[in-house]
Amino acid sequence: MIREVQDEILRLKKEKDVCILAHSYQTPDITEIADFVGDSFALSKMAAGAENKNVLMCGVRFMAETAKILSPNKRVYLSHVDAGCPMAQQLSPESLAQMKAKEPDRVVVAYINTTAALKELCDVCVTSSSAVKIVSSLPEKKILFVPDCNLGRYVQKQCPDKDIKLYNGCCPIHNGASIEDVAIAKIRYPNALLLVHPECREEVCENADYIGSTSGIMQYAEKSDAKEFIIGTENSIIAHLQYKCPDKKFYHLSQRLVCTNMRLTTLYEVLSVLKTIGDSDNENEIIMTGEQIELSRKCIDKMLQLG
Ligand code: 13P
Ligand code: SF4
Repeated sequence: MIREVQDEILRLKKEKDVCILAHSYQTPDITEIADFVGDSFALSKMAAGAENKNVLMCGVRFMAETAKILSPNKRVYLSHVDAGCPMAQQLSPESLAQMKAKEPDRVVVAYINTTAALKELCDVCVTSSSAVKIVSSLPEKKILFVPDCNLGRYVQKQCPDKDIKLYNGCCPIHNGASIEDVAIAKIRYPNALLLVHPECREEVCENADYIGSTSGIMQYAEKSDAKEFIIGTENSIIAHLQYKCPDKKFYHLSQRLVCTNMRLTTLYEVLSVLKTIGDSDNENEIIMTGEQIELSRKCIDKMLQLG
């Protein structure tokens, strides 16, 4: 049954000239039919380079918006109309404008998990895999980092010469993993290495053997000589890792590390969105004005240039 749906998706994808991009948090039945799977930074680069007329982003809204901003001449679709990132909603452009007015000498660095409207007010975007490199390459010392305080604090530790003011946003999923989860997992799996995403809390990161983006965690686990790993990011990557490394064992740090927004996309949803590609008034299509694209693109272009 799954194979039949996948075959129909592959047929329609070719017929309608669609590039399917999938974030690594998507399930294996979806990543199997994608043209490219990766973390936010890699997806941005792929979106900029895709040659198809249409792009279908299997992920959350800011990822599809980024694809549209980088490929304004393509029609870009989001795999589920309600798939948003709650962190992207935590800071409004109005609040950021007020913060900027109070701190006019700070360069505004925005995590890519933000709305396109917020990006219009930022100087440079970063992803979890490019944040340290980009912030350290900035000539300015004083930075305002929004919205994720956990990623911002991690960057501050890696770049001690910078003076980073943090906004107090966070990913409700990663921020939910606690030091108690770490203690329990370490007792249960004493030989396992702990690999965590920088969106996790400080005390969780302090106990980690490796801190990195989704792709960073996957690459680390694949290359490592260790045989067991506790994974401190969205639990879906455990299935991908188990498939890639059948001789290793992967455990979740917490059962709560599930992004319900990422889970909204199912294989059937992908098929039904594909069927509607090209229809007018398609609620899954990302619609932005030329001006919105132009204004929000500057900080994404700078990210691609510095990252
Ligand atoms: P990555 O940049 O690691 O893909 O992270 C995106 C994200 O939303 C993590 O929760
Ligand atoms: Fe947003 Fe967190 Fe979900 Fe990533 S895991 S998309 S940061 S809510």
